[in-house]
Amino acid sequence: MSKERGNAVSDEKDNPWGLRTDSSRTSNPGFSRETTATEVANSFSNVVQDKTVVVVGVSPQSLGESITMAFASQSPRLLVLASRTMSKIKAVATKVKEQHPNVELQLVEVDLSSFASIREAATQINGIVDKIDILVNNAGVVDTTPRTTKDGLELQFGTNHIGIFFLTNLLMPKILKAAQKSQSKGSTRVVNMTSAGHLISPIRFSDYNFKKRPEDIPEDERPPSRPGMSFDPPPGKTYVPFVAYGQSKTANILMALSISHKLASEGVRSIATHPGSIWTDMSRNLDEEHLEMIKKTGDFWKNLDQGGATSLVAALDPKLAEDKDIIYLADCQVSVPAPHAKDPNAAERLWQLSEEIVGQKFDLGHTSNL
Ligand SMILES: NC(=O)c1ccc[n+]([C@@H]2O[C@H](COP(=O)([O-])OP(=O)(O)OC[C@H]3O[C@@H](n4cnc5c(N)ncnc54)[C@H](OP(=O)(O)O)[C@@H]3O)[C@@H](O)[C@H]2O)c1
Repeated sequence: MSKERGNAVSDEKDNPWGLRTDSSRTSNPGFSRETTATEVANSFSNVVQDKTVVVVGVSPQSLGESITMAFASQSPRLLVLASRTMSKIKAVATKVKEQHPNVELQLVEVDLSSFASIREAATQINGIVDKIDILVNNAGVVDTTPRTTKDGLELQFGTNHIGIFFLTNLLMPKILKAAQKSQSKGSTRVVNMTSAGHLISPIRFSDYNFKKRPEDIPEDERPPSRPGMSFDPPPGKTYVPFVAYGQSKTANILMALSISHKLASEGVRSIATHPGSIWTDMSRNLDEEHLEMIKKTGDFWKNLDQGGATSLVAALDPKLAEDKDIIYLADCQVSVPAPHAKDPNAAERLWQLSEEIVGQKFDLGHTSNL
């Protein structure tokens, strides 16, 4: 381990997935995998105040809860909680009200696996907020069984990326409005929750719905080889759950890259975050075999408050505004994603594919005039 204050680059022993972090590029080189979301929010208290924050994916015992509680602790102007299950959003809202009675909350139901629901939720949110300073796209699913969204997409790609892409773009005019009003350029943020699982798969442009065998897709769309790991489907099958999850999490990073590059001059930054390993409800749809695989991935298990911390840094640290090429954080510091997740050509190709899939074009250059 070689983390030191000031100019530290962690070595690969720190993380079995080979992630490096550079703590010289944030305001708090001392923040680490042990830092909590509450501590991060507290250290950027003045940044949170007066902000309108939208958190997507909010349930008890989830990272959405710890992220929400951390923002709520520092008096934002308005917190909008959007998620699939209203009873769960209400449970988190009750906890916020108990601990921070003065925080204004709005609750919105959205199913990211349905275009109709996303359109409806976006209309609702756009009607509630004047601007959106911070959008945290935390919602996500992992599933062992091949399933599809209401619109026929592979469930993990459809929910974790396409749903997030569609909702974000429908909210973009309000995000741009916040950027226009902001005194500090780059403080308007879109945070995408990704995962080190992105290392497993690039975007399968020719087969994002998993209809083909790996040998039938281009080599650069297959999982990069990793010693001791095989992600080939069983004979006669095409679906590999963690490859589908990996593709969706690569998409979260490429989308952050696209937004940061397209909207750099408007003052919007987008950063994807790997939260670490945290036991949440995430594993509810995994079978025993895949649960066992997950148990082996973490060398350090964070609690919920620690799990939310990296997303709070991405949302709040003013120093991250300095460089639009910072697109990925892990353990509260700047990190480098896999080559397939930081390729600008892949990002643009994914942007266009996503527009095709949702049937709507989002020319951000023009959206900025709204
Ligand atoms: N936990 C980890 O170790 C870990 C590691 C790496 C990355 N992540 C990422 O962290 C994020 C949060 O995960 P978590 O661990 O907190 O899992 P979680 O407890 O399962 O929370 C996921 C959240 O997403 C919501 N959601 C799922 N499907 C949705 C849909 N179709 N529409 C709207 N909302 C939906 C869930 O709502 P319901 O409860 O109502 O379904 C829940 O609020 C995910 O993006 C995940 O990929 C987690």
